[in-house]
Amino acid sequence: MRIFWRPFGFLRRLFKVESCSVTKSESLIPLAWTSQKLSKAPGIFLLDQRKRFSTMPEIERGQRDSELFSPPSDVRGMTTLDRTAFNKTVTIPVLKVRKEIVNKLMRSLKRAALQRPGIKRVIEDPEDEESRLIMLDPYKIFTNDSFEEAELSILKQLNVSPQISKYNLELTYENFKSEEILRAVLPEGQDVTSGFSRVGHIAHLNLRDHQLPFKYLIGQVMIDKNPGITLAVNKINNIDNTYRNFQMEVLYGEENMMTKVRENNYTYEFDFSKVYWNPRLSTEHSRITELLKPGDVLFDVFAGVGPFAIPAAKKNCTVFANDLNPESYKWLLHNCKLNKVDNKVKVFNLDGKDFLQGPVREELMQQLGPLSKERKHSVHIVMNLPAKAIEFLSAFKSLLDGQPCGRELLPIIHCYSFSKDANPAKDVQQQAEAVLGISLDPCSSVHLVRNVAPNKEMLCITFRIPAAILYKNQALDLENQEDPPPFKRQRTDKAFSEEKTTIA
Ligand SMILES: C[S@@+](CC[C@H](N)C(=O)[O-])C[C@H]1O[C@@H](n2cnc3c(N)ncnc32)[C@H](O)[C@@H]1O
Repeated sequence: MRIFWRPFGFLRRLFKVESCSVTKSESLIPLAWTSQKLSKAPGIFLLDQRKRFSTMPEIERGQRDSELFSPPSDVRGMTTLDRTAFNKTVTIPVLKVRKEIVNKLMRSLKRAALQRPGIKRVIEDPEDEESRLIMLDPYKIFTNDSFEEAELSILKQLNVSPQISKYNLELTYENFKSEEILRAVLPEGQDVTSGFSRVGHIAHLNLRDHQLPFKYLIGQVMIDKNPGITLAVNKINNIDNTYRNFQMEVLYGEENMMTKVRENNYTYEFDFSKVYWNPRLSTEHSRITELLKPGDVLFDVFAGVGPFAIPAAKKNCTVFANDLNPESYKWLLHNCKLNKVDNKVKVFNLDGKDFLQGPVREELMQQLGPLSKERKHSVHIVMNLPAKAIEFLSAFKSLLDGQPCGRELLPIIHCYSFSKDANPAKDVQQQAEAVLGISLDPCSSVHLVRNVAPNKEMLCITFRIPAAILYKNQALDLENQEDPPPFKRQRTDKAFSEEKTTIA
């Protein structure tokens, strides 16, 4: 929305400078650019409604100032969508040209031509079938003098008079963008950001309190204006339930929560009402996947429907993926098949702690045991349950106690957390240290994943698990543990200043 409106303010400032040359017609007909309803008021509109096009040597400045392309003002407060209430007539400057030169001319009039989605830039001339009318941008072309030198020169070459005329253009609901519609409907001055997360055919909104009286209309507008969206839902609580699936209210459309999404070239199918899916994590999923090398082992403790596990398996990693939610487990299995990696992913339906102390422990005993001297690949453990994952780090304490203590590279943990602290990177490191009871200073890095809410960040702390944690009762040689190359001195996101990023 801002992108759309900013130039208007800018133009208003320009117009102010121009206002020293007020003409008689300007003060007499200040409203002629506004809606059809006003045009019906006697004496206000210049044109006979049947005659949509007339010669106009100069377009009035007052008209330029009005918000031409915003819907009629009386849609404000509408809660049940009435598309016809958006009908409006605006007066547009046009240039009359011979039809055979239109294509040639359009190349040179790109700047001056009207650019509005769904509106043709060249139309038939109702009065002369040998001519066409080129619609011009009313914010750039006000008078015959508004053309630039180069434009005037091509007009001259093609023997076209720069005389502009005006044309009554009928705008309908279809010609407005969703932001324009919502800005016109919702209370003036209130935020209308109509952003939503797209999950397949579903628009997932998170409406604020002041938007709730308009929620059904907003849902309908989202469906109308976004091809491929057939269902609009609103989040109705914070995801504090165990499985992290959203509680939702249907705003508009056919209630069908079974959906299919593409992320980083992989396909996932699931029931959005029963599992966790967040399209805002796609960059994070690919960031972790890029750290992996073919042959590496990945344990995904809170795997959801597979957005870390499946790309890793495609990269020829051996994957152990787990989720406590039986529905996530079901769709994880399904998606492994769908993406043809079911032979590379072992899927579990356990509590994260049981997964770590069961299948993960067993596999680590193999990976780190005496037969693993020649092991070249890395072992990664992803823990994406930001509200709680840090607590699960305690499951690593003494996990391999009693096992021969290998000198091989120990597993690399990528653990997610939220922070509301002024120094979120330091805070997350301290959270992890508090659970593990050990300093992570020499061997961890923190990455800012995303801003979840004002003053709330989602972060990922990455560190090689210290041997002192895994083998509590063994004599250790920690000095020989190398730092993991991919994130040794890794910079955190630009949001963290160099000073804050003391963790390397
Ligand atoms: C934030 S989601 C992350 C899912 C997936 N990794 C992703 O990036 O989209 C966390 C997942 O952890 C699962 N979960 C919650 N508590 C769990 C637990 N105690 N043990 C294992 N999985 C759990 C939820 O069902 C959910 O699928």
